Amino acid sequence: MLNNIGVIGLSTMGGNLTRNIANKGFTVAIYNRHFEKTAALLELSKNQDQPEHAKNMSGFETLKDFVQSLELPRKIIVLVKAGQAVDNIIAELKPLLDSEDIIIDAGNSNWQDTKARELILEADFSNSTNSTNSDDKKIIHFMGCGISGGAEGALIGPSIMLGGAENPANLILPILQKIAAKDFAGQPCVSYLGTNPAGHFVKMVHNGIEYAIMQGIAEVYAILKQSGLENQKVSSIFCQLNTGFNTSFLLEITSEVLKTQATSKTSSNQSLVDLIVPKSGAKGTGKWTVEAALELGVAVPNIFEALNARIESNHSYNFNIETITKDAAEMGLDLEVDQLKIYLETIFLTSYLQGLDLILAAEKEYSWGINVAEVLRIWQGGCIIRSKWLQEIPTILNDKKLLQSSLYNSLVASSNLQQILNGQSIFASNPVFASSINYLKAVLYNQNGHSIIQAQRDYFGQHTYERTDKEGIFTGGWNLKA
Ligand code: 6PG
Repeated sequence: MLNNIGVIGLSTMGGNLTRNIANKGFTVAIYNRHFEKTAALLELSKNQDQPEHAKNMSGFETLKDFVQSLELPRKIIVLVKAGQAVDNIIAELKPLLDSEDIIIDAGNSNWQDTKARELILEADFSNSTNSTNSDDKKIIHFMGCGISGGAEGALIGPSIMLGGAENPANLILPILQKIAAKDFAGQPCVSYLGTNPAGHFVKMVHNGIEYAIMQGIAEVYAILKQSGLENQKVSSIFCQLNTGFNTSFLLEITSEVLKTQATSKTSSNQSLVDLIVPKSGAKGTGKWTVEAALELGVAVPNIFEALNARIESNHSYNFNIETITKDAAEMGLDLEVDQLKIYLETIFLTSYLQGLDLILAAEKEYSWGINVAEVLRIWQGGCIIRSKWLQEIPTILNDKKLLQSSLYNSLVASSNLQQILNGQSIFASNPVFASSINYLKAVLYNQNGHSIIQAQRDYFGQHTYERTDKEGIFTGGWNLKA
């Protein structure tokens, strides 16, 4: 019997996704560059998963045997490190595949690489076949597929953002629908989002929003820590903040993280998070989001500030933090949970809106076929940025009055809060909160001083301006000295 699907790359994500597929009753061929990982996964599944489903996995030592074990057209999920490793595996697979086979890159690949890979694969494969008849054009389909939810999501249900050609998408969707998380209405959090590279673009924006929300939570954590609270107390505050629209995976895990004690003997009774060096890593998706936004002329200030904050965290002078914390505690920083709720609400709302703006701009430019409502739906379950906001935002976006009042109310509440914070908190930086407020002001009112910029540009360089009182493009009218 041939296998329904294949998975290449059996690190945590690939291994867990394989177990998820096998647990849903599909037969999966598995392959990893080093066979030990394949063997370990087979062993683990026998012991840990529903044992009757372990028989659904078959491990192979060679790529050739792996490929030959798959039913046609072959569906092969690749979950290797983004970048060169994806190109390497495509190069190895290419001579082994037949026309109409499907490679699904489910890693965090750069969307521009995904587009290029699809084109190269298509061109290479049709050149390598002898037919001159364009009617029997042969093709290997390359799909870019964003998968979110981390290791646990991969195992019990991720959010899946699929892009590529529609026909192969229809062949792979029945499997993806079975393994995906569920949205608020119980439907699978997977969708065919459009032609390549729609899936990887949307996943990239997802990660950009992830950066912004994580930074917002880190800002609240910094405020609470600098007011001298113990981690257990901070954890319970995060638990209280995880309500209403802000109910979210990221707030839930923050509360859990803060409860966790270190396990080693030397550091028992210490909170694990207190032992973690406060320098953030980043694999690139946040940076790509900002780059794409700059390219498309979209403002994503929350994401940009979150990225900057990660960079800055690696370049701090790191003066004596204990003294600073003590000073701040003596200042008696005093905020109610409801105020912190506003802080996070503003960040959640504006971060989602900025990410959606970017997706809309990309769709306008490239016409991949992305439906934003569908993106919001498949983010409701499984993914890292899932929250109750994802149910509310479509309602807000569909009603201009509600949008205006939501933005206005958010601006008033957060501006008041910022005043309080300015008077109290001197050390906790709040780049994403501050940028949310500026973003709200910018989108609500055009009181941004940009008439003066146009005037200056025209004054010194005759760069022209438009007028509010008449149509047309104008220049001059200044009392120039020379
Ligand atoms: C997800 C996550 C996942 C990964 C990030 C980490 O949706 O499951 O986004 O893809 O955790 O890529 O990104 P950084 O290393 O850049 O923080």
